[in-house]
Amino acid sequence: MTGTETTHEPEVRAIESDGAPARYARGWHCLGLEKDFADREPHQVLAFGQKLVVFAGSDGVVHVLDAFCRHMGGDLSQGTVKGDEIACPFHDWRWGGDGRCKQIPYARRVPLRARTASWPTLVQDGMLFIWNDPEGKAPPADVTIPRIPGVEDPEWTDWVWYTTVIEGANCREIVDNVVDMAHFFYVHYSFPTYFKNVFEGHTATQFMNGVGREDLVRPGSSGRKSQHATGNSSVATYHGPSFMIDDLVYHYADGVDVPSTLINCHYPIDGNSFVLQYGVIVKKLPGLADEQADAMARKMGDFIRLGFEQDVEIWRTKARIDNPLLCEEDGPVYQLRRWYEQFYVDAAEVQPEMTERFEFEIDTTRPTEAWKREVEENIAAGRTALSAARKPAGQHA
Ligand code: FES
Ligand SMILES: [Fe+2]
Repeated sequence: MTGTETTHEPEVRAIESDGAPARYARGWHCLGLEKDFADREPHQVLAFGQKLVVFAGSDGVVHVLDAFCRHMGGDLSQGTVKGDEIACPFHDWRWGGDGRCKQIPYARRVPLRARTASWPTLVQDGMLFIWNDPEGKAPPADVTIPRIPGVEDPEWTDWVWYTTVIEGANCREIVDNVVDMAHFFYVHYSFPTYFKNVFEGHTATQFMNGVGREDLVRPGSSGRKSQHATGNSSVATYHGPSFMIDDLVYHYADGVDVPSTLINCHYPIDGNSFVLQYGVIVKKLPGLADEQADAMARKMGDFIRLGFEQDVEIWRTKARIDNPLLCEEDGPVYQLRRWYEQFYVDAAEVQPEMTERFEFEIDTTRPTEAWKREVEENIAAGRTALSAARKPAGQHA
């Protein structure tokens, strides 16, 4: 049945995948807002293939320990905070935030080797971070999370924060988004017109400008068009493997710019699931009441959630792929993954090509033409981007 020797069909492209890595990234990982851990109750956190306990002592300082008690394996996250210590529910051994057993109420003395793993923490701008390092080293001084200017500034809103558990995908999927311009149109309802990446050291940045999509406004609601953003400019940087700060400005038709900061961060539960969190603060417009500003931040966060929910749908069913097949208008996936690799090897094994500066700008001429056409078609057909996206496969215009 091989009568086609004369044709020169390319071979079928095979998807390659080595499976999820056996280790977890070295770096600072945000566990969420600090205030959510400050209630003096033990909190269970599943991260890095382990169970952790997070608790605040009477001094308010938040600590993170391995959840399993070194005595007989009790689960400290089911215990009680007593003073500055976490008391095990099994025999009441008291563990301090430094990982040392401070007291055993029924014993004459604490065994010398009574020490458990304590995770380095950082509380900054309302968020709690822990340092993961498979080599067990302390965080280097030059690997930091930058301060976020608008936090706790009365001219800005408070955090609007979202948490979601992603099952069935490794966290590399979300990191890939850094270079994936096209998915911002199809999955996040954005319209990128400028897209550039810069990787350097432990940071990876995405510069993206876009225009508002006319097909996001439902027909008949054109009276609200003046409130519809005409464009946006975003500079989003990963500081390490899992924490992204996005300086995002929405431009409005009346010349008003609304600056905001979006956090996009995650931590791995295990190789095949992770917790995605994102938060927004928005600069209050002059004359806007606090509640209105908060509502605006919430509205923005909800729009971002819509995009992430669609990311999640993609991740849930897609294949892990080590050899993506790219076209010219795709971003530098391979270079990004080389950058990302630095967090999965021992510090001594980090190669220059993982950290040296790399820049790439996508030529957006062709995508802009194609997407303009698609938006126009949606409008002509009375569809919004959202309703178009929900069309079953095969019915796409
Ligand atoms: S197992 Fe924790 S005190 Fe015994
Ligand atoms: Fe995405």
